[in-house]
Amino acid sequence: MDRSEIFDLAHRRHPIAAPVAPERLRDLLSWLSPPAGGRAVDLGCGEGEWLQELLLAQPGLTGVGIDHLLPAVNAHRTSQRGLADRVQWIEADAATWSDGLFDVVLCVGASHAFGGLGDMLTAVRRHLRPGGQALIGDTIWEDTPSAAALAALEASPDDFPDLAGLVRASREHGFEPSYGHTSTLAEWDDYEFSWTGSLVDWALREASSTADRDQALTVAREHRDAWLGGWRRQLGFATLVLHDLSATSAE
Ligand SMILES: C[S@@+](CC[C@H](N)C(=O)[O-])C[C@H]1O[C@@H](n2cnc3c(N)ncnc32)[C@H](O)[C@@H]1O
Repeated sequence: MDRSEIFDLAHRRHPIAAPVAPERLRDLLSWLSPPAGGRAVDLGCGEGEWLQELLLAQPGLTGVGIDHLLPAVNAHRTSQRGLADRVQWIEADAATWSDGLFDVVLCVGASHAFGGLGDMLTAVRRHLRPGGQALIGDTIWEDTPSAAALAALEASPDDFPDLAGLVRASREHGFEPSYGHTSTLAEWDDYEFSWTGSLVDWALREASSTADRDQALTVAREHRDAWLGGWRRQLGFATLVLHDLSATSAE
């Protein structure tokens, strides 16, 4: 199995590919107030939960979800939710795709698609109409990372900011953060146990070959060990609602 098949299996019970609970996702989206008839884009949308929940909450909105590996389930879920005529899924590189300006830009857990946080914020600005709103989510350090966390993530301390650094970077890119959320330990544990548990369940109940079963079990065990021995309580995740300041006179 390739990486994307493993990723899809790991997210079977947690279609939001971030440590964010569904009710927190809806709280965050409630801070967005696009105009009637507006449009939204979700960069690195994955299964598109952020975009679909936004469209359900904002009946006048249409949306576009961009991912370079679009999960097959998206079209089915969209039609089940009655959103088929309001959303378009496009398989494309989010770093180069463009289609004019949007009232809302979503980008959660996908800054790596742009080369990092700063380039992601620049890309969000490029797609956003002046005065629009964005919702971004990215990894942060909860504290000075331990050697075990750095080793498990193959990361350096400079790879992620802390929460203050994330807010500062957003301000430096011309955004004013309004609401924000930092994922709790319970959200992280639910996300990681769903990730590893879905792979284990699939391996032991559904895999049709020994090779696939063994691969899924190995990935689940390695991920679980790296999480519990490495980044648990060290890696954080913050989601911010941002206002574009370029169309306002007061700062
Ligand atoms: C951690 S997931 C987040 C998915 C979704 N935003 C969510 O929160 O559920 C990151 C997503 O970014 C996508 N991605 C990574 N690089 C990309 C690129 N260059 N262009 C488009 N999508 C990309 C991946 O395929 C994956 O679906």
